[in-house]
Amino acid sequence: MKTVIDGMTVGYTDDGNGTPLIFIHAFPLSKSMWLPQVDVLKEAYRVITIDLGGHGDSDIVPWNDSLDGYAKNIIRLLDHLEITQAVFVGLSMGGYTLFSIYRHYANRVKAIVLADTRAQADSEEGQAGRQSMAEVAFKDGASAIASLMLPKLLAPATIEQRPEIVEEVRQMILQTPTAGIVVDLVAMAARPDSTDLLSTITCPTLVIVGEEDQATPVAESQYIAKRIPGSTFVTIPQAGHLSNFEQPVVFNQAMQSFLERHEL
Ligand code: MLT
Repeated sequence: MKTVIDGMTVGYTDDGNGTPLIFIHAFPLSKSMWLPQVDVLKEAYRVITIDLGGHGDSDIVPWNDSLDGYAKNIIRLLDHLEITQAVFVGLSMGGYTLFSIYRHYANRVKAIVLADTRAQADSEEGQAGRQSMAEVAFKDGASAIASLMLPKLLAPATIEQRPEIVEEVRQMILQTPTAGIVVDLVAMAARPDSTDLLSTITCPTLVIVGEEDQATPVAESQYIAKRIPGSTFVTIPQAGHLSNFEQPVVFNQAMQSFLERHEL
């Protein structure tokens, strides 16, 4: 599904009825990474997935250099859909974007699910890594980025034993234009530190992480969960960074029991 907001095409899906759940994807993927959640959770909730600018069906916003820009566009889609408050789910870059949403639009947030993400800003070394990755993207395109990212996104066992998952993720990356990849890298490198925000989060919070996540290891999620008052912490066995895609049954169960426990 697509709509035009302020002259920009925004791709999204909108299925089911009930409390709205808004899913924000990781780098350098698209809303398709949430299909295993949409299929199950739409039975009891209104499930919305969105393509950030320059991903999937959404127009690129080439002058966007901050995750606040992504956050604003997500809120604009909510306004368009006449949704006042929602549960937000963000994985990795989606989690960074979720911190921006909480920082600027906390009144729109009913609850949050932070999956495979981290609260710290990039170190200098991390920023330099983003710059080299942007150069690779310009020079060699999305297929080179897929080769770099797949071992970071998926657990070694997934890569060895589940070629269909590897192929689906590779296709998502190949469909992301180089410019979209570069805009993400610039925005992530410029993101602020969110560690001070954690203790101010008062809504119900679920923190999820794949036990074999190499991009944002379990310790990062533990750090977040310890600082958000009353949060729930769940680790997912046999999953890497893309825990929702590698182990959807366990991920969905964690979400369902969290949503039910908080009567969302
Ligand atoms: C992601 O999955 O969104 C990325 O690994 C985030 C990052 O590169 O920091």
